[in-house]
Amino acid sequence: MSRVKPVLARALTTTPLLRLDVAHRGRVRRLGLKLEEHGPTGSVKDRSAVGLLRSLHDDRPLTPGTVVVESTSGNLGLALARLLPTVGCDFLAVVDLKTPHATRRRLADSGARVIVVDEPDGLGGYLLSRLRRVRELCADNPGYRWPDQYENWAAPDIHRRTTGPELTEQAGPELGAVYIPVSTGGTLAGISAHLREHRPDVAAVAVDVRGSLAVSGSAGRRLVPGIGASRPSVFLTAPHSYDRAVHVDDIEAIAVCRIIAEDIGLALGGSSGCAVRAMLTDQDEAGTDGRLAVCLAADGGAKYRDTLYSDNWATEQGVAKEITSAVEHLRSEGLFFDRKHQEH
Ligand SMILES: Cc1ncc(COP(=O)(O)O)c(C=O)c1O
Repeated sequence: MSRVKPVLARALTTTPLLRLDVAHRGRVRRLGLKLEEHGPTGSVKDRSAVGLLRSLHDDRPLTPGTVVVESTSGNLGLALARLLPTVGCDFLAVVDLKTPHATRRRLADSGARVIVVDEPDGLGGYLLSRLRRVRELCADNPGYRWPDQYENWAAPDIHRRTTGPELTEQAGPELGAVYIPVSTGGTLAGISAHLREHRPDVAAVAVDVRGSLAVSGSAGRRLVPGIGASRPSVFLTAPHSYDRAVHVDDIEAIAVCRIIAEDIGLALGGSSGCAVRAMLTDQDEAGTDGRLAVCLAADGGAKYRDTLYSDNWATEQGVAKEITSAVEHLRSEGLFFDRKHQEH
């Protein structure tokens, strides 16, 4: 009997919701961080990988020796690189120059073959170049299997069935809005579908980054890996697939990450900083009713120590001054994070 289904069933784990108070512009808000870094390889993509491999296996069994190829900014790659060897399959990860070196090393250490695409796609990232490479590999090797995280509805579906219910259960009736960073849009589409069905009173807010076309907007430089895309998400085209969208400035998101680390000693990934920045803007604009806001913290900050959290990196990118002044500006608005809410 195939080991694939039991291995995938065991791979699904739950993640905690950390509750904080956030002071900003004279108000104190309640914030929940859904800490996906507690997944087996440290990101929300641990769940997506399970959904995608299940669907691949349902289409045609994943037999030992099968080669799976996927384009990834890193996190889905880490999740697939953990699971595939346990079912005897090989993994070919197509990443790009923005994929953190720590992630590339971890992929190689897990036995994945890593192909680094270095040709910018002209739209602020490398996604279209990565996809071109995957298509070429599949055309040259008809036996290769491609989960296609960008168009395979198994990805949103696993979030509809796991992340969404877990989050609403942990947050309880006080939940008012959920802020979800978008790249493929799978996480948002799935959580939003769960909210529509079971908690229509809760807003699903798409968080995109300046320079990304994932939700809308125009293409440009993007500093934060994991969030944003060089093309619109195919999972978010239906009307009402989410309530509203907020585009954030990546410099401000990095500043928020640094402030959270300073205040509570927790390093989050850059897309989580985007979600928190979006929450502050949105709650000011939409007018908060005092209910709990939850941000999906898609991964942790350790793998970004040499980039988003590094002053040398900021200097190399020419954004050191911008980050410092964003931190100063947010502090001047009274931004401060405190763990005390969880003790109430
Ligand atoms: C750190 C991080 N945040 C957010 C996302 C967005 O998730 P999705 O592709 O489901 O939109 C990703 C996806 O790779 C990610 O790695």
